[in-house]
Amino acid sequence: MTRRVVGCRVMAHRVIITTPIRNTLGDLMPTNTAAWLPAPRADLVVGPAAMHEPGPGELLIRNRAVAVNPLDDVKQRTGNLMYRWLPSPAVLGEDIAGEVVAIGPGVDRFAVGDRVVAYAVGMERGRRHDAEGGFQQFTVVRADLAAPIPDALRDEDAVVLPLGISTAATALFQSDHLALPHPSEHPSPTGTTVVVWGGATSVGSNAIQLAVASGHRVATTASPHNHDRVRELGADLVFDYRSPTVVADLISALRGSSVVGVLAVGTGSAEPAVAVAAATGARRVALASPSVSFGSLPRRAGPSLTFVRTMTRLVAANVALQVRARRAGISARYVWGSSLMTNEVGPMLWEDYLPSALADGRHVCAPAPEVVGDGLEAIQPALDRLHDGVSARKLVVRL
Ligand SMILES: NC(=O)c1ccc[n+]([C@@H]2O[C@H](COP(=O)([O-])OP(=O)(O)OC[C@H]3O[C@@H](n4cnc5c(N)ncnc54)[C@H](OP(=O)(O)O)[C@@H]3O)[C@@H](O)[C@H]2O)c1
Repeated sequence: MTRRVVGCRVMAHRVIITTPIRNTLGDLMPTNTAAWLPAPRADLVVGPAAMHEPGPGELLIRNRAVAVNPLDDVKQRTGNLMYRWLPSPAVLGEDIAGEVVAIGPGVDRFAVGDRVVAYAVGMERGRRHDAEGGFQQFTVVRADLAAPIPDALRDEDAVVLPLGISTAATALFQSDHLALPHPSEHPSPTGTTVVVWGGATSVGSNAIQLAVASGHRVATTASPHNHDRVRELGADLVFDYRSPTVVADLISALRGSSVVGVLAVGTGSAEPAVAVAAATGARRVALASPSVSFGSLPRRAGPSLTFVRTMTRLVAANVALQVRARRAGISARYVWGSSLMTNEVGPMLWEDYLPSALADGRHVCAPAPEVVGDGLEAIQPALDRLHDGVSARKLVVRL
């Protein structure tokens, strides 16, 4: 199978550079290398990649740090169950931080040499998949999904943010989810509460901060060893999600509070989130995670008993959840973390809010980074470690 991309030919797992790549000034650009997903369910393979030019509204970034997400792990292990539109080979990766090396037409927020953190959307439908994937040395990103990194922060600090904060903002601020007022430096207290189930996750750590910055009190759940951490991020009430009485405890603590919505993060969070919403009068639940984990699916093609069981449980759990939510008058919708790039939430977050909030330390880069290796070859071991589980940590690879 041969497929043409800019200046190169992709043959099955290999990419061959066929034309010299020059930037808009005519200078010869260095060559690019990517950690390719060569085929469904395969391990990543490091090899040459095309050097793409930024189009209108885009930047070309020389990546200095990337982080891994459960999304990359699930995509790698489940083949074409998700993101069926991604070609093979593919470049995964959403979280990047590095230096601007070229600027497309119409961008005036950045200059060559700026350090930026950006959300790489190469896996999304309709995007330039190879050019915009994060796991490579050079990535094309949308300038409206990028923010400058203040001098006080390292690339490996900032790189924990992109998918987590984008998903949190989508859930909290998009009109079809919780539709909260936008965050600001001096939020007007709303007198209302938001529940963030899974406060120690990447999505949850950012959601706690954004909900507080939009004037809300936050109640959250986390393992006991992370309670101080989520309080530092701004949570007011914290419960252990593994406690058999967690739902009753949350409901009891929230008695008399006005709860405007629940964000459910973490496998199995949807059902308790709807139960808490039903008992507290919240009418909106944003669901970040499926009810059933894909983690135990076998990493091989073809049907298996585990696959059939998992998909059956998933469908049954979804139907039961939606019936329960509708009976209680609750809208419980799944979040697609990149949908903010098609509405006002993306620029609100990446252009208006995040740059100043990062610069004056109002928004903290959380969860804390754990640098697990250097170079593109370190990404596959990072994904393997993520699959085994992390607690309030973002696994980061320096490039
Ligand atoms: N829909 C989307 O667009 C979208 C985007 C990004 C992520 N997600 C999903 O959101 C979830 C979290 O992703 P992430 O990157 O934020 O995760 P992450 O940082 O890798 O999450 C690790 C944390 O998950 C917490 N956790 C695990 N199970 C939990 C549960 N049942 N209830 C509460 N907390 C739980 C653990 O907390 P403790 O250490 O305190 O035990 C751990 O610290 C995943 O399911 C992911 O697939 C969805």
